[in-house]
Amino acid sequence: MDKNNKYLNPDLPIESRIEDLLKVMTLNEKISLLRGKDFWTTNPIQRLGIPSFGMTDGPLGVAWHSSHRGKHTRFPATIALAATWNKTLAYEMGKILGKETKAAGRHQILAPGVNIIRSPLCGRNFEYLSEDPILSSDLSSELVKGIQSENIAACVKHFITNNSETKRMKISTEIEERALQEIYVKNFKKIIEKSDPWGLMCCYNRVNGTYGAENEYILRDILRTQLGFTGHVTTDWGAARKTSGAAACIKAGVSLEMPGFLLSRTMTPRKVRKALQKGEIAEEDIDYVLKPMLRTFLRVELFQDVTNAPRKVTDNFEHQQVAQQVAEESMVLLKNEAQILPIKLSEITKIAIIGPNAHKKFGKPYHGGSSAVIPPQFNTPYEGIKRYVEENAENVEIVDYPELADVTFLIVGLDHGGSFLKTFLFNVEGDTEGSDRTQYGLPTKQIQLIQHTLAENPNTVLILIAGSPIDCTEWYDDVPAILNAWYPGMMGGNALARLLFGDISPSGKLPVTYPKTLQDHPAHKSKKRFPGDLKQLKIYFEEGIYVGYRYFDKQQIEPFFPFGFGLSYTRFDLTNIQVDKKDIKGHESFKISVDVKNIGVYSGAEVVQVYIGDDDCSVDRPPRELQSFEKVFLRPAETKTVSITLDNSAFEFYSEKEKNFISESGSFTIWVGTSSRDLPLSIKINYVI
Ligand code: BGC
Repeated sequence: MDKNNKYLNPDLPIESRIEDLLKVMTLNEKISLLRGKDFWTTNPIQRLGIPSFGMTDGPLGVAWHSSHRGKHTRFPATIALAATWNKTLAYEMGKILGKETKAAGRHQILAPGVNIIRSPLCGRNFEYLSEDPILSSDLSSELVKGIQSENIAACVKHFITNNSETKRMKISTEIEERALQEIYVKNFKKIIEKSDPWGLMCCYNRVNGTYGAENEYILRDILRTQLGFTGHVTTDWGAARKTSGAAACIKAGVSLEMPGFLLSRTMTPRKVRKALQKGEIAEEDIDYVLKPMLRTFLRVELFQDVTNAPRKVTDNFEHQQVAQQVAEESMVLLKNEAQILPIKLSEITKIAIIGPNAHKKFGKPYHGGSSAVIPPQFNTPYEGIKRYVEENAENVEIVDYPELADVTFLIVGLDHGGSFLKTFLFNVEGDTEGSDRTQYGLPTKQIQLIQHTLAENPNTVLILIAGSPIDCTEWYDDVPAILNAWYPGMMGGNALARLLFGDISPSGKLPVTYPKTLQDHPAHKSKKRFPGDLKQLKIYFEEGIYVGYRYFDKQQIEPFFPFGFGLSYTRFDLTNIQVDKKDIKGHESFKISVDVKNIGVYSGAEVVQVYIGDDDCSVDRPPRELQSFEKVFLRPAETKTVSITLDNSAFEFYSEKEKNFISESGSFTIWVGTSSRDLPLSIKINYVI
């Protein structure tokens, strides 16, 4: 190997190193990089000193099956991270994902999963963030920045409209351009603008008839030309299989077919050479898709790779503390009648901790699908609460039956439906990759258990452990308190105990709307919309831009729990809304500020949410849309001024006529509050293009 080769010189600019590499690589070497070597790595090129590039699944941590059966920090589900509305915490979590990926000997983590939560029933909601593209992209871009700060490539997935799992390998999303752009593309657009991800995974499904992996419109016109994406595109595992072939995928812009194993044999050297011979593609087309792959190699410093033997177990206290903080800040207090929570240990002597999810250890091989992260140890709700009680109260006993207890913690919810294989074979209900839920409510047995428990002990706190919205209507009135704990990760039990006993006040806010009934929900107006017309293999996104709260607000339908909602042990008062200018011109930025005061007796955090509505638009628009948010921590009686800076992108919508995002001159209303349905402050501004 010639050490003077420019591409090996880390002091030269990356783009000139890429050009140099392309010059020294033979055609066969280039072709060898287009398809993986095995399930998780690419082919090395010894002659040029190019090592294998290794990937691991995410997004809840470094997954077991892709890290030599390694055990690593298991974070709460991504939907839980979204419920924290805390950008700093997302960055910290991303940084740890990067560190642990590196320690596991990989160069890329297949995370974050950012598909918009279009329906409460999508099996992978737990891996995604929100129904709103701003909340989703603001937190995802912090995850990406954190991951990449460790020189590990992120991989935002799955591009695009893979918003449900039923027939995901074949189904076609039927969607109009404005909805595609304004909701689904916007999410990725903001992530790309804010964090420049080095990798992206395309989807299994078809988009308006064409598979994601060969969709030139999606991968070239939108991703490269419109969004200016500079990273490499990998297929989802096996997503090239059903396409019309290597030439189509390469022309569309796929850099890497994964895996390089039985499952997928589309961009094999033989098939690529054949496509070249037939003139379906030229070497320049290969260079076009290879360039971003080489860019990633250089960005992760693959050539300076000094990876030691991969670490099999990460048992890191600091990482686990961050996982615990995510869990603590994510839990959403949905109801707290007569302030039953927090429980004061000095006032009780007996606690019962029961329910199907009280002892469940989440994090078993393949459970939930590809995001199965196995932690070195797992702190269940039962263990966490029990330990807390033992450490903090001498005279409080854990009893087995609700009728013997002063207070009962009833822990219900969902699971991942067993192993991936079992889910596929028997279609087991749960939050899992590969299938969607078929019912919005809890399993019947759990509803019976709730009723039974309440009859034995009305002092029952209901704790939900699930990765998607759950129908609470049937039992809501009878339960004094409900805490939604999501899938809280390996430290979940400790986090839960600290909230239940008042060490900290809940500060999580719902990143999705909970409808009263599924029939109220825009994605469930017909089977065509969800799970889709399964004979025609088409799923119709007929609700268009009216996804989640945008629809409920437009149609003035009362949700059960609105987007952005979440209670606290304390109370906050928002006053004094100000804007630094009432007339905004062109691209200039403007600042909104409000004073937030903690008027209760507990310390706590509030999420200041800023929504903007267009008062006189030439097209139909939602009454208001989230544009920004800030989480603020306050002690009792403390006041802070929260300032949020925005620019004219806060006024934009996608114009089908202009084929672009545009803003129109006119009057806009800015609303500020603590959920999409609690917006006490508003102010009008005027925008001139
Ligand atoms: C999933 C991806 C995952 C990949 C590798 C696919 O089935 O959709 O999210 O990263 O497998 O495990």
